[in-house]
Amino acid sequence: MRPRQRGKFITFEGLDGVGKSTQLGKLAEHLRRRGIDVITTREPGGTTLGDKLRAVLLHSRTAGLSPLAELALMFADRAQHIDEQILPALAKGQWVLCDRFTDSSEAYQGGGRELGSKTVLQLHELLCHGLQPDLTVLMVSDLAANIARARRRNTQQSKRSETDENRFEKENRAFHRRVFDAFLAIAEREPQRVVKVNAKQPIAKVHKKIVKSVEDRLCQGNKK
Ligand code: TYD
Repeated sequence: MRPRQRGKFITFEGLDGVGKSTQLGKLAEHLRRRGIDVITTREPGGTTLGDKLRAVLLHSRTAGLSPLAELALMFADRAQHIDEQILPALAKGQWVLCDRFTDSSEAYQGGGRELGSKTVLQLHELLCHGLQPDLTVLMVSDLAANIARARRRNTQQSKRSETDENRFEKENRAFHRRVFDAFLAIAEREPQRVVKVNAKQPIAKVHKKIVKSVEDRLCQGNKK
């Protein structure tokens, strides 16, 4: 019997409110239509422990969390997620589409909180079994539009439910600028892994571009 082929690992990155989850969902549908077994997940979250950590990390009432403690919790979430969800799924041949991964830690904690990339990448090395995405879709829009959209969305969400995930949205513009710049620096450093997508375009056009990148880079041998 032929050994089962490992699945592909695709991550979506970008500032809050850039439309990652919509595009992730559309790509999952597209791949399923092509007969590929896909799971979708997110960080922080994706496991029972991860959901608890997500509530602590994102709730705007979480006060006084030190940048290093924040980084450690992001990696606690990730280590659990990798062991419990991502690696077992990839081993079964499933494709894993993940909303955020280590690039978010590098951008938000490394850039936004000014802990630097080196610390983040060292933790990745130590805790993540060398796992790297096969492809990362970095969705880029302009900073002001992003912040406005994320704030609007979260205000609407908090009115409708008990969920409050506003802690990062409440950061100032300089913080978001550092996050934005850090994402762009990652894309410059690793062009073979990270594809930049202009998120200002209509949803259908962005989707088409993402599908093309995935097919060009990952689908040889998976063509139906
Ligand atoms: P997410 O649910 O993707 O928010 P949105 O849908 O608004 O993009 O991510 C939650 C927040 O967590 C987001 O503000 C970024 C932050 N975050 C980090 O700061 N570091 C990390 O390593 C991860 C995974 C997320």
